[in-house]
Amino acid sequence: MVNLDWKNLPFGYEKTNYNVRCYYRNGAWGELEISSSETINLHMAATALHYGQEAFEGLKAYRGKDDKIRLFRVEENAKRMASTAAYISMAQPPVDLFTKAVKTVVSLNKEFVPPYESGATLYVRPLLIGSGAQVGVKAANEFLFLVFVTPVGPYYKKGIAPIDAIIERLSDRAAPLGTGHIKVGGNYAASLPAQDRAHKLGYAISIYLDAREKKYIDEAGTSNFFGIKNNTYITPESHSILPSITNMSLMQLAEHLGMKVERRQIAVDELHTFEEAGACGTAAVISPINKIDDIENNKTYSYCTDCKPGPVCVKLFENLTGIQYGNLPDVFNWVTVLE
Ligand code: PLP
Ligand code: COI
Repeated sequence: MVNLDWKNLPFGYEKTNYNVRCYYRNGAWGELEISSSETINLHMAATALHYGQEAFEGLKAYRGKDDKIRLFRVEENAKRMASTAAYISMAQPPVDLFTKAVKTVVSLNKEFVPPYESGATLYVRPLLIGSGAQVGVKAANEFLFLVFVTPVGPYYKKGIAPIDAIIERLSDRAAPLGTGHIKVGGNYAASLPAQDRAHKLGYAISIYLDAREKKYIDEAGTSNFFGIKNNTYITPESHSILPSITNMSLMQLAEHLGMKVERRQIAVDELHTFEEAGACGTAAVISPINKIDDIENNKTYSYCTDCKPGPVCVKLFENLTGIQYGNLPDVFNWVTVLE
């Protein structure tokens, strides 16, 4: 293993040895290439640069107690990238190309998969860009699919310690029938000012409302939202939120653990009825929410006593990470163990 300060890694970019790349040209995907360069040679008129033909994904590789390396639900990321690509008129990397690329790049960079119990993981970042030149607003005729990896620490420094959230009322990250449900860079650019405001005020995340009525919870800028009450896991149903693979997994886990699951609109007015609330995603894992401030309406919704995570959040966290690290049986067949 390479020598890094594993316990203090930020969620940032760390150079590794290799990345993998594949071009779509003349209507077909080419061979997967292995590269040790950190840069790409891109035409200045590439559609990714001008018209936002850009899609990305995020998943993690986990080193278990048994030293085996596991990928979590890589096929789901493959399917989501394909649906993002289709929505913005890009060539879709086939699921087997995507999974082969991820397995290859993780295997080539095994020494960067952080040690078990360091709190760090290997973040895998698949990227798809329109690399062909266009000046008129048209789809590219050439695409580059690449996957790089980088070892990362927890996204929210405090691990499973609860975070503070703010309701964002000054901007939307996505329009009602826009691109909120796919993973395109533009959604994240649109969330940067709100994130900046939130951080300056001391909040870890901003929670977006539905853009049409400003009445229902959508999601946070990098994670889905869930609330817990009466042994029920409740998470928003909305066209403008990213279908989180972590959230999908938590819904299955909650049912498996004997809870009810509801996927439906959650009005801001319902927030005070939850016993616990949390944010979930690959980077966020499960981040219990300590409180949500709705500054414009002078309201605060609190979920934790002495800033301790609630019992359901802890149970879900332990079950999810137990499967990801191979400490619990993979009952749902979510894990790919690398050879
Ligand atoms: N919502 C947004 C906007 C995200 O960027 C992410 C991260 O990928 C998520 C939710 C969580 O999705 P997943 O659990 O698939 O990582
Ligand atoms: C993820 O959870 O993988 C994300 O994409 C969040 C963020 C780093 C964009």
